[in-house]
Amino acid sequence: MPQTPQHLIEADGLSMHYTIGSRQVPVLRDVNLRIAVGTSVAIAGPSGSGKTSLLLLLSGLERPGAGSIRIDGTDLGSLDSDGLADLRRQRVGIIFQSFHLLPSLSALDNAALPLQMAGASGAREAATEMLRRVGLGERLHHRPSQLSGGEQQRVAIARALVHRPRLLLADEPTGNLDDQTAESVRELIFSLNRELGTTLVLVTHDLGFAARCDRVLRLHDGQLHETQETQDRHEAPITGQPEARRDALPA
Ligand SMILES: Nc1ncnc2c1ncn2[C@@H]1O[C@H](COP(=O)(O)OP(=O)(O)OP(=O)(O)O)[C@@H](O)[C@H]1O
Ligand SMILES: [Mg+2]
Repeated sequence: MPQTPQHLIEADGLSMHYTIGSRQVPVLRDVNLRIAVGTSVAIAGPSGSGKTSLLLLLSGLERPGAGSIRIDGTDLGSLDSDGLADLRRQRVGIIFQSFHLLPSLSALDNAALPLQMAGASGAREAATEMLRRVGLGERLHHRPSQLSGGEQQRVAIARALVHRPRLLLADEPTGNLDDQTAESVRELIFSLNRELGTTLVLVTHDLGFAARCDRVLRLHDGQLHETQETQDRHEAPITGQPEARRDALPA
């Protein structure tokens, strides 16, 4: 495995369809994607355009019908399901659109799970700290059914960030939050990007979120396109240099 790949994500020729009975539902066709290490990318597109499906492929939770994906230098096609689970545990944080919290566990135990499964010490302390950062310091021992929708979303965010992943895949992370809480979640996610160089892929309809990303891509008709918004932000052609890109953003 290369030590420091230039691109955290390299996807080539990705196609994907779902099968319902004898019918095939095409979702993605010939998608190519390069995301430089440490950058932030928003993915926009209408409902049903395949945004969640693309995140499922990038996380290895679904396999593409065709094409290849390298994450942090590792070819997902070369890994079995245990290998994919290890990769996620060590290097990827995922915020699912529908949270996927474990109903029998408290907020604290849900958030601590990735570190506990990796056998890391200090899992509960780290989870407590992350829950405090998303404003849930007073809800540590509530189970998901005892939390509001926005609070459940914030537990899911804390769980995705607790192991400080190299890559964060987030599906509408501010979708259920009021303006003020959404802003603190954006701040948390971008501070991780700045402090740890975490690469961000954010599916979002939140314009404030997309505006702060280095690039905005749009999924339409099964294909992914760079938007005019990205072009406008970069006077020079995109070089893959994260610092240069961030400097190019408007204040
Ligand atoms: N398990 C499944 N089986 C069959 N079809 C599916 C399945 N999951 C999603 N689809 C279909 O695939 C298409 C893409 O779904 P996807 O969830 O990726 O869209 P999305 O862009 O995330 O939409 P939204 O903005 O509403 O979350 C949709 O037309 C959906 O109906
Ligand atoms: Mg979706």
